[in-house]
Amino acid sequence: MIIDRTATHEMLARPTHDEAARTQYIVQLKNHLRRFENANRVALENRAGPAFKVITGHEPQTVEDITAAMVDDPFYQIWSAFSRSAQDVMWTSVGTTIHRELPRMTEVAARLANAPAGGTCETSPDFKAPADAYAAHIHGQPGGYMLGEESATDFVAGAFYESGGNAYSLGTGIGMRDSKSAAIIEFLKARYPDFKPRRILDLACSSGGATVGYSAAFPEAEVYGVDVAPGLLRYAHLRAEAMGLKAHFRQMDAGALDFEDDSFDLVISHNMMHEVSREALGRIFSEARRVVKPGGIVVHQDVPVKGADFTPFEKFIFSWQTKNNDEPFWDDFTEAHVPSVMLEAGFSQDEVLETTVKMRDGPRAWYVVLGQKT
Ligand SMILES: C[S@@+](CC[C@H](N)C(=O)[O-])C[C@H]1O[C@@H](n2cnc3c(N)ncnc32)[C@H](O)[C@@H]1O
Repeated sequence: MIIDRTATHEMLARPTHDEAARTQYIVQLKNHLRRFENANRVALENRAGPAFKVITGHEPQTVEDITAAMVDDPFYQIWSAFSRSAQDVMWTSVGTTIHRELPRMTEVAARLANAPAGGTCETSPDFKAPADAYAAHIHGQPGGYMLGEESATDFVAGAFYESGGNAYSLGTGIGMRDSKSAAIIEFLKARYPDFKPRRILDLACSSGGATVGYSAAFPEAEVYGVDVAPGLLRYAHLRAEAMGLKAHFRQMDAGALDFEDDSFDLVISHNMMHEVSREALGRIFSEARRVVKPGGIVVHQDVPVKGADFTPFEKFIFSWQTKNNDEPFWDDFTEAHVPSVMLEAGFSQDEVLETTVKMRDGPRAWYVVLGQKT
């Protein structure tokens, strides 16, 4: 079975009519602002660029030039301020639903305590997350991913991640949005038709959206998801159980895994690379290679800001994330030569493939780096 759309389940916070309407309004506002992204180009060509040339004697050519030219431009400032505000009100909107829904969700969690699907979740108050985990409340998520660290039962961070993610992905709602794991599973099945992984590890699994995609597609496999954030893992576990899909969630630093060498057939990560520092990426890639079996496969998928020849203007727009959206590592990712990090992790040149995988819903393509350990 392939889970190819955002799934609904009992643990998901259910908006009232008015809450759904407000969140949809914000989604449409964000879509509208996205369409205006290109108007920044007009501002650059007609106003900010010529002003920059008067001062420097040359056209803005690099990302740094364009940044210097645009930072004081009134259109860019207004677009930027609206975009950031839309992000903040999105969180406020989904937060209203989550906090109203908490009593019901807590009852569902109690009912799922016996883990009907057979999955497990282990978090520990003694776990020491790497400093990067506290670098920011990434993309403005209230309380950040580490929210609930001091509790043994708090799953609110995961509820925010999923409900916010459904709105944030500019989707048209539950049940209608492309799934990343489905795209990668199809890619793997086309490339390796006989590959039947028995043990699968999802690194930085967050609320387990992708993890259970593998449980569904490979029902014979033992599937693990690891993350540093306990509130995300607790929710991931409850979500998986509510969906009747078995997966095991563990609180671990993906850069220091508590798993044996050569113990997984498939190691994946989804949308992780842009949220970890360059140093962490090196450690995580090394660990992924260590725990994958000879003959096994490592796949890291991420957002479509790499894998094509983007112009300096497009790269300037990408870097808005680091400048304005609490994404401290986004620029590290766009600047990194990811295949080289795979080589540093121990893969040889002919074991590594850098590619893109078409999204199932539209013209864009996910960025993917694959390593096959021979
Ligand atoms: C964008 S989310 C990943 C999304 C998720 N894979 C999905 O498909 O929905 C990035 C995740 O990386 C986790 N993370 C960051 N550094 C980590 C590390 N060193 N080890 C494990 N998880 C980490 C964060 O807690 C966060 O949940």
